[in-house]
Amino acid sequence: MTTLPPSDKALVPFVSVENMMKLVHHIGIEKMLTGLADYIEDDFKRWELFDKTPRVASHSAEGVIELMPTSDGEVYGFKYVNGHPKNTKAGLQTVTAFGLLADVSNGYPVLLSEMTVLTALRTAATSALVARYLAPKGADTMAMIGAGAQSEFQSMAMKAICGLKSVRLYDIDPAATEKAARNLQGMGLSVVACESAEEAMEGAQIITTCTADKQYATILTDNMVGSGVHINAIGGDCPGKTELAPGVLERSSIFVEYPEQTRIEGEIQQLAADHPVTELWRVMNGEAQGRTSAQQITLFDSVGFAIEDFSALRYIRDHIGGTDYYLELDLLADPDDPRDLFGMLQRAGA
Ligand SMILES: NC(=O)c1ccc[n+]([C@@H]2O[C@H](COP(=O)([O-])OP(=O)(O)OC[C@H]3O[C@@H](n4cnc5c(N)ncnc54)[C@H](O)[C@@H]3O)[C@@H](O)[C@H]2O)c1
Repeated sequence: MTTLPPSDKALVPFVSVENMMKLVHHIGIEKMLTGLADYIEDDFKRWELFDKTPRVASHSAEGVIELMPTSDGEVYGFKYVNGHPKNTKAGLQTVTAFGLLADVSNGYPVLLSEMTVLTALRTAATSALVARYLAPKGADTMAMIGAGAQSEFQSMAMKAICGLKSVRLYDIDPAATEKAARNLQGMGLSVVACESAEEAMEGAQIITTCTADKQYATILTDNMVGSGVHINAIGGDCPGKTELAPGVLERSSIFVEYPEQTRIEGEIQQLAADHPVTELWRVMNGEAQGRTSAQQITLFDSVGFAIEDFSALRYIRDHIGGTDYYLELDLLADPDDPRDLFGMLQRAGA
């Protein structure tokens, strides 16, 4: 068998999990979270340019597998992501992901990347970016309910981007609370492990719910939520999978990424289809108001939208140049004559 080494046209930069972790350490996690938030904000501000569609979801009894595509007309991107809440019991992640950017002019991929770590970073960066617009002035304490894979990322992004000083952790599984408390030691936050969601919420101006359950759960009941807080609701992101009591939603000003997707997947699936919500890109562009009073309850009904992944991949593409944190993957067939794909295959077997 005679095969030549792949040509440049065959190669696509690939960022593995190992290299993603090296890149995060090279840049520094707080600097990277801040940089990701800047890229996401830039893309939200040019929202109208993008192709947008609710993500394409394939549901099963155990979880969901989703494709999240978008394009700004020059670059196309998509993410493959799953959500399987029972996975951790089998030693697997609830959420894993990978994604790709491609050149719209010829359709050739220009980056393939792991996105399990990157999704945690981009979700946290988005939450903190949104909290910077909506949280009450001077908010420095967060209740973190659900201390799984995303929780430390959420805490660090709120520190880096919003000036969070203290995080109060609660998970239904004390081992998860302990794990997050341990991981956050020495990271510049005051960390308090709590024994109930109510205790975690004491004195918190930001309440993050980040639990995983494939059902309607009630992490926050109506009487748990006082006025003047910002709720960052991460875990309700699938049909039939929510975290907040409808009464909390009724009392909140609700902010969303892409209403067409959030009405299917977010907390607001519990409300009438015409319940008023504000699109975050409009707030970022100054076209809509964010928080208007200190007493208001603002709610980011986060489900995760394709543009955030596009921004995150764009950030990675801009930051791997000149580093060793990627491999060249032989991903694309490149016959000498573009129409002689079969001949290339035949010669490889000779
Ligand atoms: N909005 C987004 O953009 C986005 C992005 C990524 C993940 N998510 C979602 O965020 C959630 C968390 O993801 P993860 O990767 O951290 O999952 P994970 O499974 O690692 O952690 C979830 C944690 O929630 C805890 N939990 C479950 N029920 C609880 C309850 N009633 N009270 C307190 N804690 C409870 C579990 O014990 C677990 O530790 C998932 O639902 C996931 O689908 C959303």
